[in-house]
Amino acid sequence: MHHIFIFFHVLSALLLGSFIVFPFIIMRFNDLSLLEQRKVSNTLLFFVKVGEISLIVLLFTGTAMLSEFGKMSASLWVTTSSILLFIIGALLGMMHSKLKALNSLNLDKFQIYKYYKRLRIYSWITMLSVVLAILVMTNPEIL
Ligand code: HEM
Repeated sequence: MHHIFIFFHVLSALLLGSFIVFPFIIMRFNDLSLLEQRKVSNTLLFFVKVGEISLIVLLFTGTAMLSEFGKMSASLWVTTSSILLFIIGALLGMMHSKLKALNSLNLDKFQIYKYYKRLRIYSWITMLSVVLAILVMTNPEIL
């Protein structure tokens, strides 16, 4: 069963890897027209939804693999990766609401800029958390 769990675990980690390019896409948001901004935010919203599903799969398969090991390990890497997973989940939730708002039709320029600034910050923190989670998961001995 382990090989199935690790397959879906790593597949979900790969899907989460899309958030590494998020800040670079959002950085170019201001150069786009209103229509293009709406199209891009729609695509980003799709990726956020995929990311939310990936997090659930990561948590499920991670816990399943840990229980497979016999005893529930309470090591630092498990705690760190679980905390990172919840941080990423919270950030995805916040990005979800901002992208949804950006997709609505009745927003003025000031509101768009406000949401865009928040999105930029959230996307950078998400990127760093994903990189950190992959680093901890692939090198648990560093903790
Ligand atoms: C954002 C969160 C996470 C990411 C990106 C992630 C990523 C990964 C990756 C890439 C591997 C393969 C590592 C390797 O074989 O060298 C792995 C393995 C593993 N992960 Fe995660 N993971 C995350 C969260 C979790 C959580 C929350 C748990 C536990 C509740 C967990 C439990 C495990 C276990 C048990 C393995 C297998 C280790 C082994 O077979 O030696 N992961 N993870």
